[in-house]
Amino acid sequence: MLGRREFLRRTLAGAGLVFASKIGSPFSWGESSGAESRIEVLIDEPLGIISPNIYGHFAENLSGVIYDGIWVGPNSKVPNVDGIRKELIDEMRKIKAPVVRFPGGCFADSYDWRDGIGPSEKRPRRTNFWAGIESDSAPANHRYDPNEFGTNEFVHFCKLIGSEPYLAANLRSLPAEEFYRWVEYCNSPAGSTTLADTRASSGFKEPFNVRYWGIGNESWGCGGNFTAQEYAVEFRRFTAWVPGYGQKLSFIASGPNGDDWAWSRGFFEEIVRKGREQLHDIFGLALHNYAWNLSRGRTQDWDQGKGDAVKFDAVDWYELLREGDRMEGLINGQWQVMSEEDPEHSVKLVVDEWGPWYRPGSEATPGDQLEQMPTQRDAVFSGMTLDIFNRHPEKIAMANCAQLINCLNSLYLAHGDKFVVTPVGHVFAMYAAHQGGQGLRTIFSSPTVNYDRDGKTATFWGLKGSASLQGKELVLTVVNPHVREERPTEIGVRGGSIKSVSISTLKSSDIHAHNTFDRPNAVVPQTIELQLSGKVANNIFPPASVTKVTLLLE
Ligand code: AHR
Repeated sequence: MLGRREFLRRTLAGAGLVFASKIGSPFSWGESSGAESRIEVLIDEPLGIISPNIYGHFAENLSGVIYDGIWVGPNSKVPNVDGIRKELIDEMRKIKAPVVRFPGGCFADSYDWRDGIGPSEKRPRRTNFWAGIESDSAPANHRYDPNEFGTNEFVHFCKLIGSEPYLAANLRSLPAEEFYRWVEYCNSPAGSTTLADTRASSGFKEPFNVRYWGIGNESWGCGGNFTAQEYAVEFRRFTAWVPGYGQKLSFIASGPNGDDWAWSRGFFEEIVRKGREQLHDIFGLALHNYAWNLSRGRTQDWDQGKGDAVKFDAVDWYELLREGDRMEGLINGQWQVMSEEDPEHSVKLVVDEWGPWYRPGSEATPGDQLEQMPTQRDAVFSGMTLDIFNRHPEKIAMANCAQLINCLNSLYLAHGDKFVVTPVGHVFAMYAAHQGGQGLRTIFSSPTVNYDRDGKTATFWGLKGSASLQGKELVLTVVNPHVREERPTEIGVRGGSIKSVSISTLKSSDIHAHNTFDRPNAVVPQTIELQLSGKVANNIFPPASVTKVTLLLE
């Protein structure tokens, strides 16, 4: 076994990856470099195809998300395509954004889609659902929705970036008929109905063919304060007979808040009271989970429990990751509950809101509500979460990071003509290579992290990630959560031979590092390419990092 010194000597200085051994089997561990950590990718143990939609987004009409973030208007000095921020379009094309959810969130259950169609100058102004948390000095369009960005503009945005639209219907304050009419407006063929003609007269002759429809949002709370049983009855009524106009419609039910098993159980029990075949009308159950409580058990108060986005200690770093790591248990637990009435799992999980949620104070644009500054901690959190989704491809049909721009775990921040890609945005760019790949079982073994949690030693896993294969390209993404220690690691590919390797790493010597309008490149991935051969490769995963290892196989 090589000592640590020799391991490091054989490492290309600063480059990370050292060598690939031609000898030995990848991981009977007969031939080992002596690395303290190991990753074994099992080519012959497929988990299922990773839906591209796991890499989805969420854009709510909330403060600066739509107005200033996405929509600058066609007459703006900010470069735009038909009113949509051009830099955003360019960036989202790069990350292969598959699907975007709109218009909410809580906003959805107060929204009348008819306000957002027809000539822009004739559209009404309405009080935004979120107006109550806006200050008097907030831009008028954050408080009073001008409806300039409606269905046409949203679907156009999706087309420009190559995404599918996912519309959330208003179940709380509009009748089911209005939902049917919205589907008709979007999907009925040109010349067929009055609503199709209205669409065409706005320049959109071809149907939008919207497939994904959320039936309300958080119906246990802002979406109507229903019981699970009441909501299930509403869900059945809303979805009982909705023509798709040639487009298969995929309905997504408002699901549980985190570990609210009772909601999922109650919903399924009521749905199947009319027969198991009712399940076939449900594409997904929407799970929402935010990592927000950094109080280390001191409080469950929504405001008191939150931490700061940028000013934090090592313990807060680990606590946030610990909160986020609960996602895997939530997926497994909800899946188990769903199996009680749906043993064949015809309904999948749709995690259509996820991310960290900090207290106010770190906004790039002062006054933007719910906006926070994503740091390297959020990059690691996001990589870890996407890895969790990748490890459950048979369960997760879609996931939507909350939210795309100028909000919680945003990929981008923008204000006027300023725009920046956050560390979270870079993670999405790195992980895009997993989309549509065959998920592979991967075994990680690494020393655990020990840290001080109020005088007691707490532990967290040492290295985790996910792997996928498309043709000869094997993509392995890895998170090292340790704030100080690097992880020299041996990577074995069981069932394949390595031809060449490319490694992209997102790291920073400062765990608080973040990209601002003035310093947009403080945290950017660094990539190295290497020609190697063999079955075993080595890499040193830097502290507090997210890494993508792309292995081209023989
Ligand atoms: O993402 C912000 C809000 O969080 C959404 O509007 C709501 O669905 C959730 O509670």
